[in-house]
Formats: sequence, C-alpha cells, structure tokens
Amino acid sequence: MSQKTILTGIRPTGNLHLGHLFGAVGNWVALQNDYETFIEIADVQALTDHFDDPEMVKENVWELALDLLAIGIDPKKANLFIQSSLSEIAELTVFYSNLVTMARLYRNPTVKTEIAQKKALFGNEGESVTYGFVGYPVSQAADITALDGDLVPVGEDQLPLIEQCREIVRKFNHIYGETLKEPEPLLSNTPRIKGLDGQAKMGKSLGNAIYLCDSEEVVQKKIMGAITDPSKIKKDDQANPDICMVYYYHKLIKNPNLKTVCEECKKGKRGCVACKKELIMRMNEFLKDFREKRKYYEEHPQEVKEILEEGTKQAKEKAKKTLRRVKDALKIDYFEEKC
Ligand code: TRP
Ligand code: SF4
Repeated sequence: MSQKTILTGIRPTGNLHLGHLFGAVGNWVALQNDYETFIEIADVQALTDHFDDPEMVKENVWELALDLLAIGIDPKKANLFIQSSLSEIAELTVFYSNLVTMARLYRNPTVKTEIAQKKALFGNEGESVTYGFVGYPVSQAADITALDGDLVPVGEDQLPLIEQCREIVRKFNHIYGETLKEPEPLLSNTPRIKGLDGQAKMGKSLGNAIYLCDSEEVVQKKIMGAITDPSKIKKDDQANPDICMVYYYHKLIKNPNLKTVCEECKKGKRGCVACKKELIMRMNEFLKDFREKRKYYEEHPQEVKEILEEGTKQAKEKAKKTLRRVKDALKIDYFEEKC
C-alpha cells in the first residue's frame, strides 16, 4: 500500500481540553482523511507515572475514547487502540532497551524536564524516578515502530521522543539489518493555547483549562473567572484586548463579532461582564456539536467498546508482523511458525 501510516498516542490521565483541540489532537481529525491512522490510548505509559492509581488510568481510557470520538475521530478512518492490549509493544520495548544507554535517556530533554519536576515535587530524585519512567521513551519507540509509523503527529514537547525513536531504529537496523521504519515527526502549525489565567499553557495541573466535556454551567463559571485587562475597573474604562484572556478566547473560537469586541473594548464601550457573557454564549455554541456527539457515545457504550476492540485488533495484526520481523532479525525463531 502506498498510503503512509500515521501513529500517534496520548496518555489517559484526563479529559481533552481546548488546548488539545487547537493543538496536535485536533490535527489528527484532519489527518485521518489522508493517512492510514492509528491512535493509541497509552495506558501503559500513563502507568509509568501513575502506577499507584490504576483505577484513574482505566477511567480515563474510557473518558479519552469518548472525547476522541466526540471531536471527530472517525472509526471508519482511524484505528483507536489501547496500548496494554498489544503485548507486542512490551516485547519490542525489551529488545530495544539494549540499544539505549542510561546516559542518553537522562539527556532526553523531555525526560530531563520531567525528572526536574519530580525532583521539585518529591525532593529526592533517586526515590521518585523509576526504571519504568526513565525508560518510557524506549516504550514509545516501540509504540511507533510496532505500527510501522511513517509520521508521528505530535506537539513540540514530543520531538525529543521521536528523535530518540529514530536513533533506536537506526541502531537496530545497523546491527541487525534493515528491519524497522524510521519515523518522522509531523508538527501542526498551531501555537500553544494559553490558559484562562493567561499562563502560556493550558493544562490539567495548572487548573486553567476549559474541558470539552465541561457543562454549560462550568464553562460559565470558568469564563466569569478569566483574567481581563487588570487596569479596567469600571464598565466604561478603556482597555487593551490584547492582554485580555476573554478577548483571546473570542479570537480563538472565531467570534464573527470580533472586530466589534475589539473596538468597543478599546473605546470603553463594553463592560467586561457583558463581554464575558457573550463569550459564554459563543463558547457553548462552539461546544454544541462535541457535546451532542459525546452524549451519543455515552449512551452507546457497547458501540464504543466495539470501536476500541476493532481498532485494537487492526493494530495488533500490524504489530504482530513487526514483532515477527524483529525476532527474525534477532535470531529468535525457536518454535514459532515464520510468517
Ligand atoms: N508521550 C505522549 C504524551 O505524553 C503519548 C504517546 C505515547 C505517544 N505513545 C506515543 C505520542 C507514540 C506519539 C507516539 O502525550
Ligand atoms: Fe476583555 Fe472584553 Fe473586558 Fe475588553 S471588555 S478587557 S475584551 S473582557
């Protein structure tokens, strides 16, 4: 088949928010039309950080599946699968582990940042950084190569992980002969979405996100608390929309009335409360399709289960072939039938 393959993944540790929708995850919805697409719910990877809370991970596998289907991941076009159901990935991880030094893992910028965060949180690095955690780039390389991914559509923070995967592939092919496909990252050109509080990143741990599954009431509460131009006190004070998060979100969801919002704000002809109310109305309108679709899937759990089962089955078939190639290259062919 000449069509290229996309493999990407996301950890099931929380619901999708606007940052996801306008970032890499939203991009997947467009890409599924042009590529053979595999989207992995990375529960094994989530456990590297949350091994003490498997219930949370399980709950979020389901939540994430609902969110992904509701944003428009189409099971007819994309294979949505659960990482832990592909034991092939775990086997590949073991084989790749020999090709990566500890020093190289510690140098990985994404891992480095995460270790620094853990250190800040727990103090003693040695006690909080597990073998599984430091090794997750190896397991991610197994995710990508198991599905023969040509392209990996991700956010910028994931680039060091793709680079590490490429290194593993090159080393494997060099030592054992041409076996694995070397993937390339595919960045979307959307910049990072800011949080309601004006912080550079919208994120779960920062508590500044609008989740796609937030109810109308929750959206209302969050927007009412958003940061505006702090110099504007009274309704008719002139203000600067460019430093206002409410304006930022008007812009983000493409309010057709944007010019008016901007002009009225600058001229002091618009109160912040009214401006927020308009945003609440438009944001709820913006989320309407998502909510309807999500409700549909929530009410049809059997259908969601079947989608996951089928996606996982397709992924497993491909991963089996990769593992067979890898084992052949490693001369591990004692009993199995060769395919
Ligand atoms: N590391 C990614 C994240 O934290 C999730 C992920 C797991 C992934 N496996 C992947 C991304 C494979 C791309 C390809 O969001
Ligand atoms: Fe922000 Fe609107 Fe207030 Fe201007 S009027 S500061 S855009 S909330």
